[in-house]
Amino acid sequence: RLLGTASAAGAAGLALGGAGGAWAHSAAQEEPPTALSTLGSTTVPFHGTHQAGIATPAQAHGHLLAFDLAADSGRKQAAALLRRWSDAARRMMAGEPPRDGERDTGIALDAGPSSLTVTFGFGRTFFTRTGLEDRLPTQLAPLPDFSADALDKKRSDGDLWVQIGADDALVAFHALRALQREAAGTARVRWQMTGFNRSPGATDRPRTVRNLMGQVDGTNNPDPDDKQDAEKIFVPASGEPSWMAGGSYVVQRRIRMLLDEWDERSLHEQEKVIGRRKSDGAPLSGGHEHTDPDLDKLGRDGQPLIAGNAHIRVTAPQSNGGATMLRRPFSFHDGFRDDGAPDAGLLFLAWQADPLRGFVPVQRKLDRGDALSRFLRHEASGLFAVPGGPLKGEYVGQRLLE
Ligand code: HEM
Repeated sequence: RLLGTASAAGAAGLALGGAGGAWAHSAAQEEPPTALSTLGSTTVPFHGTHQAGIATPAQAHGHLLAFDLAADSGRKQAAALLRRWSDAARRMMAGEPPRDGERDTGIALDAGPSSLTVTFGFGRTFFTRTGLEDRLPTQLAPLPDFSADALDKKRSDGDLWVQIGADDALVAFHALRALQREAAGTARVRWQMTGFNRSPGATDRPRTVRNLMGQVDGTNNPDPDDKQDAEKIFVPASGEPSWMAGGSYVVQRRIRMLLDEWDERSLHEQEKVIGRRKSDGAPLSGGHEHTDPDLDKLGRDGQPLIAGNAHIRVTAPQSNGGATMLRRPFSFHDGFRDDGAPDAGLLFLAWQADPLRGFVPVQRKLDRGDALSRFLRHEASGLFAVPGGPLKGEYVGQRLLE
């Protein structure tokens, strides 16, 4: 099941990114477009009720960054930065250079927009830095301290948050550099993380991605196209504060996986930890990937087929008063640690209309220990208010900043 849709653009999406060259080449030889040029030409709209990069399919490459405002930057400078960022994001998502009349870095030349999305958010500290304390959403209350957290403060939080996703690594890095350049003098990168997912076209058909533990991950996500589910992911039009209408709150956690320990477990043990089959993600209570798990079904030994501490039992909405979030993560691998273990895991991103009815109650339970938690380390954390999508002519966050 794919999240939302992205559309393959026509010539407009191709022209300025330079993929027109590759496309024209194959067209001249009257060959059907190759998978690569289809991938490059896909665009995601910048304008809309919600910002791109939430309900749209997760791309193969991602960058997550936080910026802190410079000491002498206030609300006015922040507004000007969001205007510049929005303009650059809109252009790059359409396959155009980020700025008029300026020499571009050239990193994305020859490529189409490749499903590029740029998503902007505000951290709690943004509101004090800009004198906007009276507009601070209650939903941005600091996350509780979880007992198993081992958080690096330098890689947590921040005034401004940016998520970049693209199906081409050079397109993603190009966007990162362009946005960093627009921030010069106003805000500085506080931390940056790079992540990845499977590339489109790598599987026989679009499939739910796998994480670095090898599990099919994302099966039981709420569906942003379903009205009831969407209300749990996005702040409604009548919601408070009004500048957050159509927006969402994102919780980001850098979760390292203890992969050496994990890989030593038998397939049977690994499947018990999650409550799903590794091969196809089907629940251990039977059926296929999208069959609803039956948490009450017992095996021949009289024990529940989905164990009491299985991750899907502990996290399921029915175990948590309906708590729901849209998980749209990237995997990460940042080399190896001194002890030789991979520094790898999940850049977990959970989207919800209210973190107190999404991430927080579920993480409180996971923190007490499900079967998966002993293989995980939460190392960085952030919570950001991601406003609704911009209308034509608007910049992201305008309803907050003006
Ligand atoms: C389900 C893996 C962390 C919440 C799942 C599934 C897998 C998985 C394989 C089953 C397939 C699916 O429905 O997507 C992981 C891994 C994690 C992690 C590897 C850390 C590296 C978390 C955290 C939370 C969370 C921190 C929330 C605080 C959920 C929820 C479900 C789920 C809500 C769906 C449960 C259901 O309704 O069936 N996770 N997870 N997970 N996970 Fe996680």
